Amino acid sequence: MDFNKLRSDFPILSQKINGYPLAPCDNASTTHKPQSVIDAIVHFYTTTNANIYRGIHLFAEQATQMYENARNKVAQFIGASPQEIIFTRGCTSGINFVVATWGRENINPGDEIVITELEHHANLLPWQRLAQEKGAIIKCIPIFPDGSLDLSRLDSIINHKTKMVSVIHVSNAVGTLVDIATIIARAQAVGARTLIDAAQSVAHQKIDVHALGCDFLVFSGHKLLGPTGIGVLYIKKDLHDSISPYEVGGGMVEDVDCIHATWRKAPHKFEAGTPPIAQAIGLGAAIDYLNNHVDFNALALYEAQLCQRLIDGLSQIKQVKILGPIEELKKKGHLVSFLVDHIHSHDVATFLDSRGISVRAGHHCAQPFAKKLGYDASVRVSFYFYNTMEDVDRIIGAVREMVL
Ligand SMILES: Cc1ncc(COP(=O)(O)O)c(C=O)c1O
Repeated sequence: MDFNKLRSDFPILSQKINGYPLAPCDNASTTHKPQSVIDAIVHFYTTTNANIYRGIHLFAEQATQMYENARNKVAQFIGASPQEIIFTRGCTSGINFVVATWGRENINPGDEIVITELEHHANLLPWQRLAQEKGAIIKCIPIFPDGSLDLSRLDSIINHKTKMVSVIHVSNAVGTLVDIATIIARAQAVGARTLIDAAQSVAHQKIDVHALGCDFLVFSGHKLLGPTGIGVLYIKKDLHDSISPYEVGGGMVEDVDCIHATWRKAPHKFEAGTPPIAQAIGLGAAIDYLNNHVDFNALALYEAQLCQRLIDGLSQIKQVKILGPIEELKKKGHLVSFLVDHIHSHDVATFLDSRGISVRAGHHCAQPFAKKLGYDASVRVSFYFYNTMEDVDRIIGAVREMVL
């Protein structure tokens, strides 16, 4: 599969940055958008623009159909049924949704919520706040110094007091691939619910929520070629009746009087107010693009080759320390984080930017992890299929130039 051919589908990638061709290596923050996604959004606003589930006119019906088609595409993409797909604002709002609904109703004093030391703040702070409110306890599955998870005490960490196991699938800080199958199996053995933060995995590997058996799964559209402002929350069908709406208002009610209201069935009961219609349609177009152009097995292989070349090249530079489970990243990674002796990561990122290479530098919203490893900021290079071996060589060359 020649991924480099797809580069021309992304208009932004023809730009030059500081006189250099853009090397877009900050894809874990957000991916770029193919023309077909941009066109789908423009098409919606220029031909259809209407609110959904409200009007009887043609555009209102077309918009409703387009929005529900997008839901169907998402459902098929992750192996769910359409009614199990709730559109949200993003991964963060999906987790806050679960915490504010299922969490508030089911977490009691003394209950335990299990996360990992790898979590993005989006999958830590909502649980932390709930635990403080309820007198519940947060427990962390620890990491080894290379950022891989230590599952040796899993059976004692996840025990009969555990009510929720909410874990990241792929670390946005160092790329660790978490063995969620083992974690979900242990959670199910003690009757705990599970939430998977798939923000960094859904664009890089095939996910099948029913095969995984998780209760909730969240991701953001913008990390999957889609627009910002749209995310997905998968809620397993069995839980629909026992979870209250997150927000209440227009569009989600069946019958209302001044004292009482009854809710529509899921997914509508979970989507109050005007949803992000154009954004959902854009996400549907992003999924079409992936279905038509990207084989996930070939993608995983290609991204691992990019990581391997980068790791091999950076390993030759004695001032560079590569973080994360290096051997695993060479086989299955799509991002690589590193530190450079005596040069702050922000300065490294600024230097790379001066050479047309965009990367992220910082704690990557995973401060507990950075603290445990003893750094405040790392440089993160994150790939997608439109990256080239030349991008990798330019990074290695620029880092070399900087430490000279
Ligand atoms: C692992 C992980 N979880 C959650 C998020 C939050 O995503 P968003 O900011 O789109 O809500 C991110 C974003 O970088 C992430 O990498």
